[in-house]
Amino acid sequence: MKSVQLLGYGGNEALRVNQVPVPEPGAGQLLVKVMAAGVNPVDYKIRDGKLKPILPLRFPQTLGGELAGVVEKLGPGVSGFNVGESIFARVDKQQMGAFAEYAVVDAAHAARMPSNLSFEEAAGIPLAGLTAWQCLFEVLKLQPKQKILIHAGGGGVGGLAIQFAKNAGAYVATTASPAAKAVVEAYGADEIINYREEKFETVLSDYDHVLDTVGDDTLLRSFGVIKKGHTVVSVAGVPEPQTAKDIDKGLLIKSIFWAISSKIRKAAKKAGVHYRYLFMHPDGKQLSEIAKLIEEGKVKAKVDRVFDLEKATEAFSYLETGHAKGKVILRVRSGRI
Ligand SMILES: NC(=O)c1ccc[n+]([C@@H]2O[C@H](COP(=O)([O-])OP(=O)(O)OC[C@H]3O[C@@H](n4cnc5c(N)ncnc54)[C@H](OP(=O)(O)O)[C@@H]3O)[C@@H](O)[C@H]2O)c1
Repeated sequence: MKSVQLLGYGGNEALRVNQVPVPEPGAGQLLVKVMAAGVNPVDYKIRDGKLKPILPLRFPQTLGGELAGVVEKLGPGVSGFNVGESIFARVDKQQMGAFAEYAVVDAAHAARMPSNLSFEEAAGIPLAGLTAWQCLFEVLKLQPKQKILIHAGGGGVGGLAIQFAKNAGAYVATTASPAAKAVVEAYGADEIINYREEKFETVLSDYDHVLDTVGDDTLLRSFGVIKKGHTVVSVAGVPEPQTAKDIDKGLLIKSIFWAISSKIRKAAKKAGVHYRYLFMHPDGKQLSEIAKLIEEGKVKAKVDRVFDLEKATEAFSYLETGHAKGKVILRVRSGRI
């Protein structure tokens, strides 16, 4: 089968479309005939070697973190799924493998695909959707009527986060360029700050939460927007000591995270607020809840561009501009099954 593999850390020149054997599902796993796969910033960060300390690879490595497709075969002990069913999933973080004609997925990480989505729309939901969900409901414990600032509302994570937060009854401000304004309005954002013209911290104050998907200066300035004692959660800043615990890492990684987050933690302390960094995790149950919201028409999928699997490097280059409006997708097979 065809698969997009990374031959070693580097740029797009390190990617190849290779022929590899179809994988066998192990206990508790599904073999999925992949129809489409979502491309995410983490894919080019992995390619570059930026995740090496926490995700060491053996090359060649088939890339790809999320997919939509059809169950081809059940591994031993799988219940709750049938051959021929359409599913979507965030694949195992260590194993990856979604950029291929077939992939193996833990049944616990998969959910039935919303019936009102195409495979291409569905493939872009799991990774960004679970990230947004876990930030809002696991870390921030967002409640109705609370005010939240969600950065980069035009992006994959930000767009789904706005929709989940609105559906939970929150008041949502977002940062977006003029090119993304119509997109974030359609998601239901209450207040849109053109980050190219205005400084959000001069417009917003006394917020309950911030979800940061940009990092750097945007993250540091976010500490001035929320109430004392409240939390800024980031997925684009720097991991902190609690993150090491979340991902079951020991003292060495905890010390590294402690050291690299010291500037950010000091800034948070000075502002009297908390800083958390979240690494998302696959979760089939949460994905089923997201699928329900999509089927009820409460959350929409937004695909920006679709590239054929063989054009993966073009998809990477486009996403790396940092200005996608919605999701970038690899089409593995055409049509509905
Ligand atoms: N820790 C985790 O588990 C985890 C999980 C998922 C994602 N992430 C990280 O989260 C980040 C976002 O991911 P994504 O998938 O949402 O990326 P994405 O889809 O590529 O986001 C692109 C969006 O960012 C907007 N943007 C760029 N600069 C901005 C700024 N300064 N202020 C506000 N908006 C800005 C762009 O809007 P304009 O074009 O309008 O400028 C564009 O719409 C990435 O760094 C990714 O690696 C981490």
